[in-house]
Amino acid sequence: MKHTDIQVLRSDASYIGTEVTVCGWVRTSRDSKNVAFLELNDGTSLKHLQIVLDKETMPDVSAYMPIGTSLKVVGTLVASERNVVEINAKEVTVLGVCPGEYPLQKKRHTLEFLRTIPHLRVRTNTFNAIFRVRSVMASAIHRYFQERNYVYVNTPLITASDCEGAGEMFKVTTIGYSEDYKNAEEYYAADFFGKRAGLSVSGQLEGEMAATAFGKIYTFGPSFRAENSNTPRHVAEFWHVEPEVAFAELDDIIEIAEEMIKYIISAVMEECPEELEFFEKFFEAGLRDKLTSVVENEFKVLDYTEAIEILEKADVDFKYPVSWGCDLQTEHERYITEQVFKKPVFVTNYPKDIKSFYMKQNPDGKTVAATDLLVPGVGEIIGCSEREADLDKLLSAMNERGMNLEDYADYLDLRRFGSVPHSGFGLGFERIIMYVTGVANIRDVQLFPRTVGGIR
Ligand code: 4AD
Ligand code: MG
Repeated sequence: MKHTDIQVLRSDASYIGTEVTVCGWVRTSRDSKNVAFLELNDGTSLKHLQIVLDKETMPDVSAYMPIGTSLKVVGTLVASERNVVEINAKEVTVLGVCPGEYPLQKKRHTLEFLRTIPHLRVRTNTFNAIFRVRSVMASAIHRYFQERNYVYVNTPLITASDCEGAGEMFKVTTIGYSEDYKNAEEYYAADFFGKRAGLSVSGQLEGEMAATAFGKIYTFGPSFRAENSNTPRHVAEFWHVEPEVAFAELDDIIEIAEEMIKYIISAVMEECPEELEFFEKFFEAGLRDKLTSVVENEFKVLDYTEAIEILEKADVDFKYPVSWGCDLQTEHERYITEQVFKKPVFVTNYPKDIKSFYMKQNPDGKTVAATDLLVPGVGEIIGCSEREADLDKLLSAMNERGMNLEDYADYLDLRRFGSVPHSGFGLGFERIIMYVTGVANIRDVQLFPRTVGGIR
């Protein structure tokens, strides 16, 4: 069907005065005695295109009026003071009718209501803006790494090893457990892969294998977590950006993470000005100033031990008490980024007992060379570390955790054959989208969020 995108007509003045064809859905309509107006949106632009119908040549416009009706319109594009451009229609064809029970009649619905109609909520301005930003950010992430000669690798989604060791793996199976099996081992042996398998929580372990061959790699794909946490920041299926860099220590990877975040935020500021204006109006006051300040200023790097001191001195009644050795809860993370530093903060050198087995052990014997990047409003968006490159130290960390070394034989080989210092991080794609748009619930930055007890 030959037609021109509304985005193109709104931005290319050479179409003015010519006859054009547009297709789209009616967003609003107004009928009066001599003329009728339609606001048409085809999804290519946040802004609609006004269609003017002259009742003298088109006496019956009733079929074009219902909200949600899909139309093809032929007419002349004219400059308009209020709307930049509009179309004086010559010919209108109804592509699909839309009866009055269409749920998107009102101008503004709550996000909660829209979550009940995920297949239709994408037609609203809010979701148009969110998904354009999401797409631009995905492209910017690839550009950032590609311009710096990283190799994009796709790590397996079905895996037999649990990277984070937090017991949050979804099981992958083709058979149900039955009493016929003597024990779990026999059951897994009879299953598709002949051993226990699950959906990957992170591509890191395989990413490290690729990085110790190609030097610099990144993955960008889904990760799965069977976490029973019904929060505005957790989903069971999220998109994960995971670079892994050989010959990089913690300081080096922190530099890369900061540069990458600034790069992708700059890309959104440049490519999505209308969307950011929209988010600032409806979601977060001062959003664009915040993003400018993120791009222009250095992130704070704060030692975990200092963070604990700050929290212990804070005049705040935290729900979870603070002492050295405790994991930081959302309330603590928020206090540090929102009240104290008011900008992104890398908290470094966490106690080894609250972090993963693969993190490089510091000489103090108590902490690991790890960092989380915390941002105001969202909390943790990046989990990062230098990896333990020493075979004996890695083995002792795994033994302390009672891990089955056989499942990690390939991973351990990396420390036996030409081991090198290397580091990497995982950026939660939805979390950074929340930060950039000001949208507060992760369920609203995915097409079909998967959460505990919720799937469709
Ligand atoms: O901190 P995490 O668990 O780190 C890892 O998985 C490392 N293996 C990454 C690496 O070093 N390659 O997860 C990384 C990030 C978190 O900071 C968060 O942004 C996001 O992934 N994330 C989630 N996002 C949405 N829903 C969930 N349930 C998430 N769990 C983690
Ligand atoms: Mg983490």
